This record gives sequence, C-alpha cells and structure tokens, in this order.
Amino acid sequence: MYQELRKAIERPPLYKKMAEAFWDDAYISKQMLKAHLDPDFEGASRKVDFIDESVRWISRLVPPEKQTQLLDIGCGPGIYAEKFAALGYEVTGVDYSRRSIAYARDSASKQQLNITYLFDNYLEMALPQQFDFITLIYCDYGALNPEERKLLLKNVLAHLKPGANFCSMYLRLHSF
Ligand SMILES: C[S@@+](CC[C@H](N)C(=O)[O-])C[C@H]1O[C@@H](n2cnc3c(N)ncnc32)[C@H](O)[C@@H]1O
Repeated sequence: MYQELRKAIERPPLYKKMAEAFWDDAYISKQMLKAHLDPDFEGASRKVDFIDESVRWISRLVPPEKQTQLLDIGCGPGIYAEKFAALGYEVTGVDYSRRSIAYARDSASKQQLNITYLFDNYLEMALPQQFDFITLIYCDYGALNPEERKLLLKNVLAHLKPGANFCSMYLRLHSF
C-alpha cells in the first residue's frame, strides 16, 4: 500500500511522455478546443488583441507577397491561420488534434477562406512541398524535450525553401 502510494505521488522525470495519445484524446481535445475558443482565457490561445498584434508583427517580418506559402504547425482550430489567410498568405495548418482540424476546416469553409488543414504530427510530418515561412505559435517549443526539439527543427528545415524563415513564438525569428 505504502509503495503504491509512493509510486502514485512520485515526481515523474522531466519531459516524461504519456504512452497514451494526448492532443487527440477525445476528452482532452474537447476541453482544448473549448479553451482555444474562449476569448477570455489565455491557457490555449492568446487573447484577441494579442493575437492581432502578433499577426501584424509576423506579417511585418515576412510580408505576404504574391503566393507566400505559410505553414502553421500546431495550428489548433485555425485562429491564426484564418488571419494569415485573410492577409493574403497561402496557408497550410497542421495539428495533431482531429477535433481542432475538423473545426478549423468547417470555420474556413464558412468564411470561404482557402486554407489547407492536415491532421499530422509536426515531429513526423513529411509534406509534399516546402514553404516560404513556418510558424509555431504559443510556446510549444518549450514543451518539447531536447531530442524532440532537434527533431522539430530538422523537420522544419526540411519543409522550408532555401532562405525561408521559421518563427517560433515566443522565442525569436530563426533564419536559415
Ligand atoms: C497551446 S495550443 C496552440 C494552438 C495555436 N498555435 C494557437 O496559438 O492558437 C498547441 C497546439 O499544438 C498542437 N500540437 C501539439 N503537439 C503537436 C504535434 N506533435 N504535432 C502537431 N500538433 C501538435 C495541439 O493539438 C494544440 O492545438
């Protein structure tokens, strides 16, 4: 009994991953979507003013010229992707939650925004094209362990056209 209790409250090693799916779990993905869409809660997406300011800042760094292909990894329900598309970027969004991707597709279609959404793991994705710009928004990089960070950066690099940019909010702009 004591051993079991001790095991239950033991602090897990840093960055220990669950064996089960997390982002695509039925309950977790439902709560995440609710949190993303709550304009007064900053636990999943930032508040609207901050998002708008971030999008303006990003679009100043890499302006949406003709057919600027932008890949937003960990796009959630497409809050940023829609704003990027409205500014003229050709947007692809990738997320590991089927529920968020379904919501994002539906929302884009209702607003007649031409955005490609893909259910995929950004640590493993192998998309058939390269992009002018990749974004990863909301500190996701910080939640990855050192091996995953290497994998992510390798994968981002593989999906960038030569000389293109990766913006990992809120770290800094990485130029390759
Ligand atoms: C904190 S939310 C941020 C969502 C969005 N960038 C925003 O700021 O509104 C993190 C998102 O990353 C997605 N995600 C986490 N790990 C992922 C992975 N390995 N591949 C793709 N998406 C992932 C989650 O499903 C979630 O939608």
